[in-house]
Amino acid sequence: MEVIKSLFCVAGFAITAMPAIAEDYVLSTEKTSLIINAQAGRPAYIQYYGSRLAGNAAEQIYAAGQAYWHNSYPTFGIHSGGEKALAVTQADGSMTADLEVVSSALSSTADGELLTVNLRDKVYPLTVTQYFKAYRGTDVITTYTAISNTGKKPLVLHRFASAYIPVKRGDNYVTHTHGTWGAESMLEEEYITNGQKRFANKEGLRNAFGDNASVMVSLNGRATEESGYVIGGVLAWSGNYDIRLNASNTYLDLIAGINEETSHYSLGRNDTLTTPEFAMTYSTEGKGGVSRAFHRWARSYKLCHGSRSRDILLNSWEGVYFNVNQEGMDQMMEDMAGMGGELFVMDDGWFGKKYPRNGGETSLGDWVVCKEKLPGGIEGLTASAAKHGIRFGIWIEPEMTNTKSELFEKHPDWVLSQSNRPLSKGRGGTQVILDLTNPEVQDFVFGVVDNLLTRHPEIAYIKWDANAGIMNYSSRYLPADRQSHLYIDYHLGLGKVLKRIRAKYPDVVMQACASGGGRVNYGLLPYFDEFWTSDDTDALQRIYMQWGVSQFYPAIAMASHVSADRNHQTGRRLPLKFRFDVAMSGRLGMEIQPKNMSDADKTFARRAIAAYKGIRPIVQQGDLYRLVSPYEKRGTAALMYATPEKDKAVLFVYKTEHFINQNIPVIRLSGVDPSKTYRITDLTPADEKKTLGISGKTISGRLLKDAGLSLPLNGEYASIALQLEAVD
Ligand code: GLA
Repeated sequence: MEVIKSLFCVAGFAITAMPAIAEDYVLSTEKTSLIINAQAGRPAYIQYYGSRLAGNAAEQIYAAGQAYWHNSYPTFGIHSGGEKALAVTQADGSMTADLEVVSSALSSTADGELLTVNLRDKVYPLTVTQYFKAYRGTDVITTYTAISNTGKKPLVLHRFASAYIPVKRGDNYVTHTHGTWGAESMLEEEYITNGQKRFANKEGLRNAFGDNASVMVSLNGRATEESGYVIGGVLAWSGNYDIRLNASNTYLDLIAGINEETSHYSLGRNDTLTTPEFAMTYSTEGKGGVSRAFHRWARSYKLCHGSRSRDILLNSWEGVYFNVNQEGMDQMMEDMAGMGGELFVMDDGWFGKKYPRNGGETSLGDWVVCKEKLPGGIEGLTASAAKHGIRFGIWIEPEMTNTKSELFEKHPDWVLSQSNRPLSKGRGGTQVILDLTNPEVQDFVFGVVDNLLTRHPEIAYIKWDANAGIMNYSSRYLPADRQSHLYIDYHLGLGKVLKRIRAKYPDVVMQACASGGGRVNYGLLPYFDEFWTSDDTDALQRIYMQWGVSQFYPAIAMASHVSADRNHQTGRRLPLKFRFDVAMSGRLGMEIQPKNMSDADKTFARRAIAAYKGIRPIVQQGDLYRLVSPYEKRGTAALMYATPEKDKAVLFVYKTEHFINQNIPVIRLSGVDPSKTYRITDLTPADEKKTLGISGKTISGRLLKDAGLSLPLNGEYASIALQLEAVD
């Protein structure tokens, strides 16, 4: 990474409005550069974002006529047309804002280089600091702002974007994911015509239901996995977000931030609102390049324990649902340990004193063991785990309560509710949401985790669920003139709780679950080790969903579980090998009643789990290469992971449709090194003695990459997992 601040003369170039002397900051990563022009007394401009430019970078972009001269934080009021990053009602009622640069500075931080541009309104006591950060060792640059009221009287923010990135208009396509419960993260790609395309969330709490807060925009036609110029962007926010693509003949402006709809935000004297980080990357190697850059950045900086290998776990949910008891849990732990598993997670159903949790209707908030089900308490369970030599984890849903709970009876004012309206309720007809804007409630939620972990330090893993969107938009804590802060302050409150948990319990593993994949976002990843990808564990549909997730999120964070033979969501029957081969391409786990598995299935599972342990570092830390997309409907999907040195790799191939005399696409392995030769191993043969013919053979990287493999995908739901190891 390199940062250059250059002073140079730009007079005489084609853009007449430009100053004679421009102050340009070139913020670079290994492969990308961002140029910001920040001259005191003028607006700040974003001039360029794209391939890394070495040497006199700014001069070159002026000479090439490539400088954007777009205000880096356009405000409403003086020039009212076009999309704005900032709109304010000043203390005297004026709706104008007009920013100029006061100062700018570059600094080195622990994780990269930070450009700070300090702006202030020319007339009103309002300042905006714009940050641009290049993360060391990655190709990601992020931007966000801090907006402050430096006056005595309150002002109101109506628009407060994190990022405003102009993209020169070309043949642009946008790639994003869309979904709903059970079908999250489905990939979409479309041509961008002039006008506005918007991805936004209004659900309040589970912002990945609907569209995900992430996009890729191609610059020169539809990008492939390995070719094409593509900008990728993700917003690190767990609440309502808004990403707009505003396309005209000349520019496509990307504006991203919190969704301000019904969320205008007042700033009192000396108050500051800091907007969430918007992270971007630029790739000349197609969409695969964007994904790999985000994955690396996530593992290095944005995901809790990004470099730590993840345990192979069994979760109790689909095995027993609410029917939790000591004997059942013990049996599941024993079975999982016998198959080589490392962790057992007891899901919902373990708690409630006055109201035992036997369904969705009661008990959230009453985080004490249900003694009828678990007479030995959590101690009994952690003792079982220790006996079987595995770790123990537990499910909680700490942001919620049920109206049928001791917590609600004691603190009815702690839930989002309006005193003069009937309470709207969610799951079980009784579920309501705790008001996390309230510091007392924040203390309570922190206490849920704190009590569990201080009393039971053996708990190694927490599944943190959230099964509702915001209902009853009304806080008993926020004053009348700040009710519009609820959507934002809820997530700031949640962030505070999670920070406290992480400060006290840095090692505990935590999963973000929200009715499945409702919280696949970069806002929460710094506190969580992973997310639950979807409540839909059907391996066939998972191929599509995991493909979508992989566009922006690394495999190490993507919980992927082997579930029952007749899948509980789709009713589909799939071979155990297929179910394993799909789950092994993410963070492998199981979500099954092992006592219902045959001995043969258990033997296979034991082998597959052992095989996963061998490839775990490649899947969880390696680079992803997507090879054949399931969305192309060619009857096959294929992907691979490779170490950065490309000395080890793993290939997964799945038959997604089956017809007689069907064309099976050749699999070209873009993630191998053509100069190396690889030994191939069949990782998960259904029958140990019948490995594929290719197993044990050596093949050159050149052949694997250029000619590719024709693999025997025989029969319905065939699948193959191969390990590749470079030989001398
Ligand atoms: C949600 C989760 C599931 C499970 C149940 C428990 O639906 O997504 O994985 O934990 O809650 O009630």
